[in-house]
Amino acid sequence: MSAFRLGRMQVRRSGYGAMQLAGPFVFGPPADRAAAIAVLRAAAAAGVNHIDTAQYYGPDVVNDLIRDALYPYPAELAIVSKVGVRRDDTGAVLPFDDPDQLRAGIEGNLRSLRVGRLAAVNLRLPGDGRVDARFDDQLAAMVAARDEGLIAGVGLSNISLEQLRHAVAGTDIVCVQNLFHLADRRAAPLLAECLSRGIAFVPFGPLGWPRGQQNPVLNSPVVAQAAARLGVTPVQVALKWLLQLAPNVLLIPGTGSVSHLRENLAAEDVTLDEEALRQLDAVAPWPDDAPSSEMRSLPHGIPPGQGSPLSPGERARSEPRSPKHCEVSSATRAR
Ligand SMILES: NC(=O)c1ccc[n+]([C@@H]2O[C@H](COP(=O)([O-])OP(=O)(O)OC[C@H]3O[C@@H](n4cnc5c(N)ncnc54)[C@H](OP(=O)(O)O)[C@@H]3O)[C@@H](O)[C@H]2O)c1
Repeated sequence: MSAFRLGRMQVRRSGYGAMQLAGPFVFGPPADRAAAIAVLRAAAAAGVNHIDTAQYYGPDVVNDLIRDALYPYPAELAIVSKVGVRRDDTGAVLPFDDPDQLRAGIEGNLRSLRVGRLAAVNLRLPGDGRVDARFDDQLAAMVAARDEGLIAGVGLSNISLEQLRHAVAGTDIVCVQNLFHLADRRAAPLLAECLSRGIAFVPFGPLGWPRGQQNPVLNSPVVAQAAARLGVTPVQVALKWLLQLAPNVLLIPGTGSVSHLRENLAAEDVTLDEEALRQLDAVAPWPDDAPSSEMRSLPHGIPPGQGSPLSPGERARSEPRSPKHCEVSSATRAR
């Protein structure tokens, strides 16, 4: 079971994303509250020490579940949240990312989770990739919260490479959370940049998007065949493929099911052989601006400490478009 640094903490690389615990479209309470609590407790009991959440999951639902399930928290548990949007009464996803709103978002998380400080909070951006005065003001609000001890680390989500480079020039960033999976590798340059800087890279949507019949990961014949040949599940192939890419990849697959949780954690123990890695590499292209020497050197993955020169101009990251992926629905952004 391997671990990687997440700010001040060392966390198991297999964590848990709590978004799926809310009701449909991440809005409202779960159909079965006891089952949701059971998933969180099973995660903690299985040694998960990295849980991803947000006050706007529900809203005000998932953080309450985490608190009710796990408070008082184990000392080694890193709860990571994100700020930058809110939900209204109809479930619409609205920006909430002015500096004072970011501060209010952080304070809301602290209250609901009943903690004095969070391991990290991601500044969740709309995906326009812009480096401008507004971005600097948002970063300043996050840094102020860290300086005052409300958060131990600043993270960034839905960012461009340019934004990451700009941010790290001014302050420490502990994690980056962007969409990335076997069939969508557009964030590969970000992953490499994070690796070279010792920043945790936390892919959301690790099992592919969209869900169901159109899921390009779980319905990939290549993934299915590799899973069948190795005697594991397609989900485990998808998760292990991410884990083997680089040591700074931290997984947070989301599920409302204890059995799925266990299946996901067991992906750590899967061995993807050379044949599987070669075949999986061909499921989707690497982006043109991926650092080719490292990212394409599978099955060996990216050598630690070798971030390579990346082409400029990497912009907005991929954005699943569904209410379930409420966090990345930039269409609702007001400005
Ligand atoms: N920063 C951002 O903007 C952002 C955006 C989206 C998500 N996130 C975070 O990233 C986490 C992961 O992303 P995600 O939850 O959207 O996507 P995901 O982890 O790729 O997929 C979750 C979906 O896969 C299913 N699933 C999970 N394990 C399974 C298994 N073993 N077998 C079959 N189905 C399985 C879940 O259904 P079941 O409940 O039935 O298992 C759920 O429908 C979220 O929970 C959230 O914490 C962040």
